[in-house]
Amino acid sequence: MFSGSARSKTGAFAVSQSLDPPLLAARDLALTVRGEPLLRNVDLDIHAARRLMILGANGAGKSLLLRCLHGLTRRTGGGVYWRGRPMDRAARRAQAMVFQRPVMLRRSVLSNLLFALGAAGVRKSERRARAQEALEQARLEHLARRPARLLSGGEQQRLALARALACRPEILFLDEPTASLDPAATLAVEQLISAAHSDGVAIVMVTHEAGQARRLGDDIVFLHRGAVAEAGRAAHCLSAPSSAPLQAWLEGRLYLEETRLSAEKR
Ligand SMILES: Nc1ncnc2c1ncn2[C@@H]1O[C@H](COP(=O)(O)OP(=O)(O)OP(=O)(O)O)[C@@H](O)[C@H]1O
Ligand SMILES: [Mg+2]
Repeated sequence: MFSGSARSKTGAFAVSQSLDPPLLAARDLALTVRGEPLLRNVDLDIHAARRLMILGANGAGKSLLLRCLHGLTRRTGGGVYWRGRPMDRAARRAQAMVFQRPVMLRRSVLSNLLFALGAAGVRKSERRARAQEALEQARLEHLARRPARLLSGGEQQRLALARALACRPEILFLDEPTASLDPAATLAVEQLISAAHSDGVAIVMVTHEAGQARRLGDDIVFLHRGAVAEAGRAAHCLSAPSSAPLQAWLEGRLYLEETRLSAEKR
């Protein structure tokens, strides 16, 4: 996705020099709520079948960015483009999102899948086969008849992912999909994400774990106070970060602007 990142006049990072048209692009994206800039100058390109990890401290704006990219939260400035055109309903149908706390319908695991497929416009005759395939992929066949709300956190997360993937999106947004999961459940979710990527699905994922970003990411965007502080190849940025906020984050330090300023004055 990125062939380098350079700071533009606005302070944002120019992150796209690929010749392929991006699947999804944000240009100077901004979100201001009651006078408070929550996202600013965000430029990014997401190419087909790439995996972008969005990183940043609590409150940096990661979830809001995902929501703006997917069109769930209306941005107040800039643009979001799908294959070079403003997003429309058809574009939204080619996307899926999994939230940190999955929302399960008050019905069985299988019905949750069938309902999602119906909502995605899949023909009734195809829904059962697709749901079955999704259950097998997520290794949830044995729980097909169980009320979804009775599943454990890890099982619900796998169902949420299976439900999203059953709709065969071109891009999948994931907001901390393994937060609060144990190592085995984390591995299961990571395997589902990797399988989706192997099938050509572009992944845009928020994570707090550098190890996970290294394992799953081709590219990263590091957000600091609503703006992109650093962007580029995951392997490079995570081993040789060039921005102070990402350096601090990787070292597990709280990055305080004031600390930097007082250090510079000395
Ligand atoms: N609807 C809203 N109105 C006003 N402020 C909001 C709204 N939604 C989020 N915020 C604020 O925007 C900032 C960024 O929120 P966001 O949820 O994107 O953070 P985050 O990077 O996902 O953090 P975390 O790692 O804790 O999930 C926070 O300070 C939050 O309080
Ligand atoms: Mg969040």
